[in-house]
Amino acid sequence: MTDEQTAVLTNAASFITALLSADAGGHDHFHAFRVEKTAAMLAKETGADEFTVRLAAVLHDADDRKLFPETAGNQTHARYFLAENGVSPEKTEEILAVIREVSFRGTDSVTPETAEGKCVQDADRLDALGALGIARAFAYGGAHNRPLYDPAVPPVQNMDEKAYRANVSPTVNHFYEKLFLLKDALQTETARRLAEERERFMRAFLEEFYAEWVGER
Ligand code: ADP
Ligand code: NI
Repeated sequence: MTDEQTAVLTNAASFITALLSADAGGHDHFHAFRVEKTAAMLAKETGADEFTVRLAAVLHDADDRKLFPETAGNQTHARYFLAENGVSPEKTEEILAVIREVSFRGTDSVTPETAEGKCVQDADRLDALGALGIARAFAYGGAHNRPLYDPAVPPVQNMDEKAYRANVSPTVNHFYEKLFLLKDALQTETARRLAEERERFMRAFLEEFYAEWVGER
């Protein structure tokens, strides 16, 4: 990476910290930085462009529909940052495209076409799994007034983007409605291997959760 690219990444870190540090729903700047780190690791392994991957990763939730419905359509925050930092129009479009493909949309989710897109999407999805994934899911559920669990509400299968967005089920259901679907949709081998361990941990957590719920443990 050039000195100029390193400087842009430093600015991106400050920009995303200012934008997301108040989020208590699992999408704070630390999430962005974990995704950046994981995506950079995947980029090294797959030969994807490091700068594109890291910048897209840091900015991937800057216009997320859940956080910023008013800027999501035009990716206003990311566009503003890239223009302010002299990123070329071509690189800007490349980065915005990677960001647009990241999000989980139920059965309407897209598989990124580029190597860079695969790294960022896999990294974002890994951060939804494991101990961190559990913590983030319950943080999100709390921030959106969702119950932890309700045995009378079964998980919904095969939701498309519209149904997924409208869904307000308890947080435990989210494990079945999204999180356990992620492992098989990952694009890089390293991410798949890491996801397997993380999913195992989540399933063990749920087993304990249900046992305590009914008073068996
Ligand atoms: P994506 O764009 O794929 O949704 P994000 O990085 O925006 O990825 O964050 C997704 C994370 O937000 C989930 O992994 C989970 O932690 C949390 N989340 C989103 N929807 C829900 C939900 N209905 N219940 C609990 N957590 C949720
Ligand atoms: Ni994210």
